Amino acid sequence: MKNGTLWTDTDGKGIQAHGGCILEHEGTYYWYGENKDTETQNRRVDFVGFSCYSSRDLIRWENHGLVLSSVREEGHDLSPASVGERPTVLYNAKTGKFVMWFHQDSADYTRARVGLAVSDSPAGPFLYQGSQRPGNHDSRDMAAFIDENGKAYLFCSSDWNATMRIWELDGTYTCLTGNGKEILIDQAREAPAVFFQDGKYFMVSSGCTGWKPNTMLFAAADSMFGSWRLIDDPCTGPNARTTFGAQSAAVFQAKGQWYLLLDHWNPDNLRESGYSILPVICRDGSLTIP
Ligand code: GAL
Repeated sequence: MKNGTLWTDTDGKGIQAHGGCILEHEGTYYWYGENKDTETQNRRVDFVGFSCYSSRDLIRWENHGLVLSSVREEGHDLSPASVGERPTVLYNAKTGKFVMWFHQDSADYTRARVGLAVSDSPAGPFLYQGSQRPGNHDSRDMAAFIDENGKAYLFCSSDWNATMRIWELDGTYTCLTGNGKEILIDQAREAPAVFFQDGKYFMVSSGCTGWKPNTMLFAAADSMFGSWRLIDDPCTGPNARTTFGAQSAAVFQAKGQWYLLLDHWNPDNLRESGYSILPVICRDGSLTIP
């Protein structure tokens, strides 16, 4: 698994889990992401669906196929002509359900909604529940996050990506309560990935340059609806200013260490886009990605 390349699964096939997330459940890691295994035309692929892979060691990944598939019906949210990106799956310990939130959009990115799908098991299938604009605001790149106290939130790039909005979810993680907050106003951040460590909330994010790599920055806050401040680029070493040619997807923890999953987009052949997993070092309220 060389960082920056397209990794293969246990069948030797390229892993199709772009813009993904990794969830640990009962000792197994589940990797969900965009299946882009179709022709790229004008830097886009038709919506195929979201895949799921599982692994015990983060190296050997077994393919569970599409857990939410495109629907061959004109005008359907999941039609091939639509966009489905950045699925994040949350496990709800109270309901026992796996809740997937994702960026649902039209090919021209003007629909700008969040989509929801729910499953009884980590490897799917997920049942589609519909889409919405949180608080009537547009929402594009997004992430979902569970706090220490079990409350969950969505982080959505909003106002044409100028401002981020946090939205609180209810106890089932399937409904928005309506409580929210604008953060990083006019800072134009996308590709958010959120985690909590030593009493602080952290978010890494990218700038808004489409498939082209730019500078990652991290932000921190003392409370969820507190004041989020952009702090610095956590990346160090060669190509740090372009996030090593990649873009953030999700942060996850394995054996007490934080890791960042990244995408190395190949805009002319999106299914060939590679991945990296890098350690995230969190010390004295600051982040470093060596
Ligand atoms: C990026 C975004 C990706 C995808 C892409 C399309 O900025 O992070 O998820 O939407 O734009 O150009």
